[in-house]
Amino acid sequence: MRFPPAFLDEIRDRVPISSVIGQRVAWDRRKTNASRGDFWACCPFHGEKSPSFHCEDKKGRYHCFGCSVSGDHFKFLTELDGMSFPEAVEKIADMAGVPMPVRDAQEERREKERASLTDVMEMATAFFQERLQGPEGAKARAYLRDRGLTPATQQSFRLGFAPDSRNALKEHLAAKGVPKADIEACGLVRHGDDIPVSYDWFRDRIMFPIPDSRGKIIAFGGRALAPDALAKYMNSPDTELFHKGNVLYNFARARKALAKDGTVIAVEGYMDVIALAQAGFENVVAPLGTALTENQLELLWRMAPEPMLCFDGDKAGLKAAWRAADLALPSVQAGRSARFALLPEGKDPDDLVKAEGPEAFRAVLAEARPLADLLWMRETSGGVFDTPERRAELEKRLRELTSRIRDESQRYHYQQWMRERVLNFFSAQRDARQGRQDWKPGQGKTSAPGGQFAKPGGGRMAITESLGQSALVKRGSEGMSVREATIIVALVNHPALIDENFAHVEFLDLANSELQRLHAAILDAMAHDMANDRHAVVATIERAGCAEIWERAVGLIRRARQWPALETAALDDARDALNQALHLQRSARTLHKELKQAEAALEADPSDENFRHLIEIQAQFQDVQATEALIEGFGVSSGRAGRA
Ligand code: UTP
Ligand code: MN
Repeated sequence: MRFPPAFLDEIRDRVPISSVIGQRVAWDRRKTNASRGDFWACCPFHGEKSPSFHCEDKKGRYHCFGCSVSGDHFKFLTELDGMSFPEAVEKIADMAGVPMPVRDAQEERREKERASLTDVMEMATAFFQERLQGPEGAKARAYLRDRGLTPATQQSFRLGFAPDSRNALKEHLAAKGVPKADIEACGLVRHGDDIPVSYDWFRDRIMFPIPDSRGKIIAFGGRALAPDALAKYMNSPDTELFHKGNVLYNFARARKALAKDGTVIAVEGYMDVIALAQAGFENVVAPLGTALTENQLELLWRMAPEPMLCFDGDKAGLKAAWRAADLALPSVQAGRSARFALLPEGKDPDDLVKAEGPEAFRAVLAEARPLADLLWMRETSGGVFDTPERRAELEKRLRELTSRIRDESQRYHYQQWMRERVLNFFSAQRDARQGRQDWKPGQGKTSAPGGQFAKPGGGRMAITESLGQSALVKRGSEGMSVREATIIVALVNHPALIDENFAHVEFLDLANSELQRLHAAILDAMAHDMANDRHAVVATIERAGCAEIWERAVGLIRRARQWPALETAALDDARDALNQALHLQRSARTLHKELKQAEAALEADPSDENFRHLIEIQAQFQDVQATEALIEGFGVSSGRAGRA
């Protein structure tokens, strides 16, 4: 019997080749990197003492650098174990938990039919491609050119054009002898009892052929050219060949590109995939107009242990990211996680590389957050945990979340991680509130960032290196931080808060000198009893010659999406944002001072105790930074969103 290639692909993709080969060889511990799916052993096909037999789960292939045997799952079993091919297939299907295809005439016939359907799809693809080059394609060609797609890119993705006609494709295929039933089974026409004459599914659209994992076209996506079309994008309906939720656009090419670039990136749209490919990112896929499905996630994990999921930087994008995180969480295990990248607001990857080049997209990727971080952010961002009830509630939510992880060891480590994070989070808050301000300035000299300390017990450690580079320290003297800008902008826009927080406002300790000037203006307005009216406060700022600084602070707040600090926000929201920012401000400033103090103390007296103290403060400091990142959201911390 001939096995359907799709079936062979499926079981081969489901079973890591290392688990087949691992039943016959002992992996070399030193060379093997199991979490990357990269295995080495002494070759079972020829005798040897040092391992030159290699297999890679991602590729599903083995190769011996000694005797040059190579192959896939089936070849391994037939050549080493002497199984027949069907026996090998049966074994792998069994390991994959996939039932063997029924060996009956009907199944064989359907397989033949599927083959003929892919032929029809191929004919349709060629038809659309030709039409794009023909006279009716002029508008579509201009459109693609305007969107910056080179002819080479259009060719390699086999882009096409469906003319604005009810039967152009239908008649083209019929003239080539394709039966009506096949055209319908391919989803190329709309038909049905209520439709007297079937008509072309895609009309007046740019056509994106969708290949399966072997590169055969199984469906189309079509983008409307008319701006007033009912749907901007339309896909083929589900057919015998195509099940929307099981397919990723550009899967086959991305898988090939993995050898060059180890990870896979999932974005939201067809155009994003193509624009990124043109910009040099070939390892990119997209779901087909729906949120990522479980099956699509499986496909991603077959390609890479930590796929990079990339979402648009708006509310909807963030929601989609949460959703994907929830989808992935139960299944995390060694070699199965995800990273999340968010684009600057209002841009998709296509816009970004076009406006700012590949570097800008690389910067977005560099900022991607691990799954655990994303979940932590979701649960804590925007919240104020100032009562035991609220803390208990947070801990409960985190526990509930981690309990969804099926893998026992992962679950344990996630729980542990969340617990530590909560502890640090609250202890940093507590210390900040108690304000360890028994420190007096001038107590020992401060060391330069990046300085080295003798670690008691031998060895030298560059303890302050990371601190020297840390965003918080740098911001202290350079840019405006979102945190500090939030405080000032919220106060000016909602003067009622000035009065409410009088004590804090008066002694506000800001690192940024420009914001200090705005702060001085607020104090000035207070002194003149004008701090209860927004216009009066703004006027004071203008009189102080700080209008431009004010504009920039507001701009930063907008880009950081700190809406609650803006004039349009409700007072209650502004109050929450202000409280959270003040809270962090106190932690950050206190810790910054404590750090300097601890550094100096250690330099003066390199005792164990002073060393431990510094490490402890450093940890708290880093945690405040993490929390800070949570307030700022994705993107801003890199400066991409325009640090002045
Ligand atoms: P977007 O609306 O973000 O489109 O939809 P885009 O990719 O930026 O496209 P351009 O740049 O305007 O051409 C993202 C994806 O959502 C699906 C498509 O798969 C699209 O690529 N989509 C969008 C639909 O299925 N239907 C629609 O009406 C719109
Ligand atoms: Mn777009």
